[in-house]
Parts: sequence; C-alpha cells; structure tokens
Amino acid sequence: MSGFKERIFSGAQPTGNLHLGNYLGAIKRWVELQETHECIYCVVDMHALTILPDPVELLKATREITAAYIAAGIDPKKNIVFNQSRVKQHAELAWVFNCIARIGWMNRMTQFKDKAGKDRENASLGLLAYPSLMAADILLYRATHVPVGDDQKQHLELTRDIAQKFNNDYSSRIEQLGVGIEMKSGDETINGFFPITEPMISGPAMRIMSLRDGTKKMSKSDPSDLSRINLVDDADTITKKIRKAKTDADAIPSEVEGLEGRPEADNLVGIYAALAGQDKAATCREFGGKQFSEFKASLAELAVATMSPITQEMRKLNEDPAYIDQVLRDGGERAGELAEKTMHDVRDIVGFLQN
Ligand code: AMP
Ligand code: TRP
Repeated sequence: MSGFKERIFSGAQPTGNLHLGNYLGAIKRWVELQETHECIYCVVDMHALTILPDPVELLKATREITAAYIAAGIDPKKNIVFNQSRVKQHAELAWVFNCIARIGWMNRMTQFKDKAGKDRENASLGLLAYPSLMAADILLYRATHVPVGDDQKQHLELTRDIAQKFNNDYSSRIEQLGVGIEMKSGDETINGFFPITEPMISGPAMRIMSLRDGTKKMSKSDPSDLSRINLVDDADTITKKIRKAKTDADAIPSEVEGLEGRPEADNLVGIYAALAGQDKAATCREFGGKQFSEFKASLAELAVATMSPITQEMRKLNEDPAYIDQVLRDGGERAGELAEKTMHDVRDIVGFLQN
C-alpha cells in the first residue's frame, strides 16, 4: 500500500459477554494474525462509556474481556494488549480528529442512528463522536490493517476519510517538518503522515447472525439469550442453543448457491465453516442432502470442541485478576511509548507548543 510498516490494530468493547460473533468475526482472526504481524489489541473502555455507565460493571468487564483475549490464544508478550483509557494520547488525538471530521460524516453513521434511536437530540456527544475516537485508536499507532466484523466497515471508511483530510489539510506542514511517509493516493504519490488504513473484513464469519432470526446480527444486546452463543456458555447450553436454532424445512444444499434466500441455513453453514476453518462451499459439499437435525449435531460437537478449552481457560484467568491487571499495565506502557511518538509529531504538525 505505502511505505508504512504493516501493523495490525483492533479492539472490542468491554460490555457484557463476548459471543460467537465476536470470537469468529474478530478474535479468532486476531489470533491468526499474530503469527505474521506486529499486533496491538485494545480493550476499548472509553468507547464502552458511551453505553455502560455502571463503573463496577465496566471494571469487571474490562478484566473479563482481557481474559477472553488471552484464553482465545492472544499472547500478551508477543503482542500489545492494553485498555484504552490507560494511554491518554487516545483522548488527545481524538480531540484533534474532532476538529478534522465533519458533523455530517458522524450523522451518517448507521451505528449512531441505531443506538441514538428516535431521540437524537438527547444522545450523548460521546456517542456521536465515537468513530472519531476509533480513528484515533487506529491512527495513533499508524496501523495499516484492522481486522473486524462487517458491522465496523462504515467506521473504517470514516477512519480513512479522517486520515486523508488530515494529510491534506496539513500537507505543507508535514512536508516542512519531514515527518511524512511517501504513499500512493490513486495515481499520485503523496507525502502523508497517517496511513490510509485497510479494513480486513472477509470470510464466512464476517457477519454471524442471530440463532433466532437469520436477518439480525448476533449481538450482546439481543434480549433473547437463545439468539447467541456466549463465550461463557457450557457444553450443554451450546448444544441446546444450536438444537433450538431456527431453520427452514429443506435439507442442507450441496452447493453454496443453494443457501441464497435461506438466511438461517446460510448462517449455520457459515458458523460451521468458520469453526472448521473452511469456506461455505466445503461445508455444503460435506453436508449436502443432510437434514438439519444431523447437521446441527455435528455443528454442536464442533462448537463445543472449539469453545470449551477457551471457556475453561477464561474461568481460570478470571480467578487471577492480579495477572490480568499486570498484562494491561505492561501493555499500556508499551502502547504508551508508541502513542507518544505519534502524538509528539501531531502536536508539532498542528502547532501546539511543547518544548
Ligand atoms: P463489539 O463487541 O461491538 O466491540 O465488537 C467486537 C468485534 O466483534 C468487532 O470487530 C465486531 O465487528 C465483531 N462482531 C460483533 N458482532 C459480530 C457478529 N455478529 N458477526 C461478526 N462479527 C461481529
Ligand atoms: N467500534 C468497535 C466495535 O464496536 C470497537 C473499536 C473501537 C475498534 N476502536 C477500534 C475496532 C479500533 C477496531 C479498531 O466493535
């Protein structure tokens, strides 16, 4: 893409229990990427403040989600794992971006529209500015790639817009200070300070749907617990939820095209494929012609085999908060050093006196 060193950044909010959508859509891929890339994985507690005002819950959820990252296989020594609020430069860069981004851009965000509901005037300013903080998370580390689920696509497009506008608005200053990096912008080569981040959204798990309604995404906030598989569910609960998952009356198709117009079937096949590390076509070949009862039994077995070791490890880690706190402190220190390097240049670029 450019002269920027490849670096992965991603994060999840510490709100309630993580579910299979978070695991397959995001965390499982984070684990794979640590083999090939330098990775920074963040617990975005400042983002959670937009929806979770109970301080005791927030503290608990921050430790729990960190335990989930580690239990899923993220190595906090090899990568940086930390909670966002510890590194003050996130808030500092978000402010600069608040002055770059336009209110119109924020108003168009579907997540904001969904969460704010009808009474938009009464939504917090934080909820509106949320994507600007998210852009700051990513660009503070000049991250080039961001693995997330499909629901974050619009936010990542906005991150690219913010980077582009910043590079543009301050282009002569960036050049004059010599802090830019040569990068391609269309056919032109420009000298930019922030990379134009690439989203990594692909595979059968980029959008895992509710087990009760194949047209709604699996989500922490769905009132029905049967709609999702939580990372803390035991084997019996997982099996029961899969058995009760909504389906249609037909058999599994032997070709992927046969899933069209069958959202529930498509979702269950997608979940199987993601758990098995294959594509949906391979799953259709394997189960084509089989009834759902048989397919669901195999799916439940695979889900339990994959999730149980993670759940057990998570329980163990949850009993050792001192270890979790140490991971976050250590990660925070390492993240802080990288963040300050970027922020020091940003202060120079925008004209903040700092020496
Ligand atoms: P959140 O819990 O909203 O902070 O999301 C954490 C990560 O999980 C993000 O990368 C989301 O895109 C991803 N994610 C959340 N729900 C789903 C889902 N139903 N399917 C796939 N990915 C998801
Ligand atoms: N908005 C993301 C979500 O709800 C969480 C998030 C915050 C994030 N900052 C980020 C994801 C930076 C990737 C990169 O899932």
